[in-house]
Amino acid sequence: MVLPKLLLLPLLAAGSAAVDISVSSSGGNKTSNIQYGIMEEEINHCGDGGLYAELIRNRAFQGGSEFPSSLDAWTSVNDATLSLKQLSNPLSSALPNSVNVKAAKGDKETGLANEGWWGIDVRRQKYTGSFYVKGSYKGVFKASLKSITSGETFATAHVDSKSVEDDWVQHRFTLMPRKDASNTNNTFSITFDPRHTKDGSLDFNLISLFPPTWNDRPNGLRRDLMQAMKDMGPKFLRFPGGNNLEGQTLPGRWKWNETIGPLKDRPGRATTWKYQETSGLGLVEYMEWCEDLEVEPIVAVWGGFALNGDAIPESELGPYVQDALDELEFLTGSVDTKFGALRAKVGHPEPWKVKYVEVGNEDNLNGGLESYKSYRFRMFHDAIKEKYPDIQILASTVDMTLPEKAGGDYHLYDIPDNFVSKFNFFDQYSPDNPVLLGEIAATQFNGEDINWDDTDFALYPWWIGSVAEAVFMIGAERSPALLGTTYAPFMMNLDNYQWSPTNLAFNADPSKTARSTSWHIYELFSHNHITTTLPTKSSVDFGPLYYIAGKDEDTNSHIFKAAVYNSTAEVPVSLSFDGVKSGSTAQLTVLTAPDAYSMNEVGQRDLVDRRVEQITAGEKGVFEFELPDLSVAVLKTDS
Ligand code: AHR
Repeated sequence: MVLPKLLLLPLLAAGSAAVDISVSSSGGNKTSNIQYGIMEEEINHCGDGGLYAELIRNRAFQGGSEFPSSLDAWTSVNDATLSLKQLSNPLSSALPNSVNVKAAKGDKETGLANEGWWGIDVRRQKYTGSFYVKGSYKGVFKASLKSITSGETFATAHVDSKSVEDDWVQHRFTLMPRKDASNTNNTFSITFDPRHTKDGSLDFNLISLFPPTWNDRPNGLRRDLMQAMKDMGPKFLRFPGGNNLEGQTLPGRWKWNETIGPLKDRPGRATTWKYQETSGLGLVEYMEWCEDLEVEPIVAVWGGFALNGDAIPESELGPYVQDALDELEFLTGSVDTKFGALRAKVGHPEPWKVKYVEVGNEDNLNGGLESYKSYRFRMFHDAIKEKYPDIQILASTVDMTLPEKAGGDYHLYDIPDNFVSKFNFFDQYSPDNPVLLGEIAATQFNGEDINWDDTDFALYPWWIGSVAEAVFMIGAERSPALLGTTYAPFMMNLDNYQWSPTNLAFNADPSKTARSTSWHIYELFSHNHITTTLPTKSSVDFGPLYYIAGKDEDTNSHIFKAAVYNSTAEVPVSLSFDGVKSGSTAQLTVLTAPDAYSMNEVGQRDLVDRRVEQITAGEKGVFEFELPDLSVAVLKTDS
């Protein structure tokens, strides 16, 4: 694309003096190699009902005291009676609930149907499914995808019954729809002929259906969302992120060992985000997610504290520290170790590498700081460091003095102006204690107060908020203390969410996934990685132009990243790099949007305008260009 002349020509307009920036050839600092990443958290149905590609909602009737087991998302076919049961011989101790489907008198076909995660995407592709059934049945099951709107059947698999009276038997099938459905208002159903059962009823559990997944992994991840993340160019994944790690109460914490192995052995749990999770997207799946995107895992281990403010006392914390060590052994230990052997048993003999571990989440909040400072962080830190001296350990806060080499995690949810005023925020930190920006997002409009009682902030990232985040991120990149940055929460299912805005938003239709205005900035910054910063000198102070310069030593290019926030006119820039001569060429990429409130919405056009132009350094090697108000730009020299 060609930039409009207004944007690229040297600024000659009267009264607009150029911002002269000269970049030295040495004297900067090495940067972290994981600068931009992703945060995982079971919130907003971004795991279950989102990235985790399972299409059946409430597939195993999981629930507990907080979110009781129910028949949510299920309806009967014909006039069957569906009843939730806790049988004396359940499918497994982890999945004690099941559904009994009893035919109405005289029915020749009966069954149950699921509406998916507020819709099911049906297209000409292979779906892989399975279900467990108990009860004597000598007939055929029909597994079908159908339109609710028209009643049309897109695909049916005939599955010969292996079902027996007293045991649970798994049945598998595939479905290949003949055509794409015109919308996601579809169901998945299983039916049977009750005349060939003992009493007209059968029990079902763990009913599952997957579309093709990323890298065709079984129990895998949704392709469109993985593609959006891959395209962003992330370098790390922090998991299991946020409050969901902590749990509402101490017993409700996230337990790594309940998220591994066969699905029938995963009980699921009450998330801190108002719904039950299946744990189908568990620890192994997180690591596969990292493998598939080639990103570093930042493994968050539970830190002995729950959101209700309860902390495990010092005298009782030992077993929980050991649990974190066991988790790390599960991930990284050889198959000769107890937990390495467990990993092999669940299908992963090869150990993974873990370089970063974070202890807890936001331990500065809800009254957690005192115990975190006095013993919790230290106990986890010392034990992990002793066994894994090369792991970079992170505290979940920066509000404390950290041991040598330990890092901290800083979260910022705020209005755009406050992101900009924190441009220099990172100057206070030293690389001896690196800082992860583990969660950041502009959440409310300028002039508003953040209301923590209602985390339904702006629905989507909006352009001025994204530009403000860019200013803050540039400020952070200038610091040798920055480890990495991620938007949070990262994703939401627009049909059922607890916290907006997010970096990606989606619904059941993968063609409608929205890459947010902020996504574009992460994409631009991450793909233009500065390996060493370089000092700059300028005629004017930062603001409204904020920038950083440096080198990408892998390509020997010079890089300049900039954002313009609240300028009354285009900002003319005269940029020179020490050692870059007249006639050298560079690529200038400028992101803009129609207005400050532009949002990329699910199912709508992407509003971010990306203009790319080759420019040439003029006399004395100066690159001259203009940047409009509310723009984010990267200039990268060709060598
Ligand atoms: O990402 C949403 C929430 O924000 C996280 O759970 C928590 O860590 C933070 O308060």
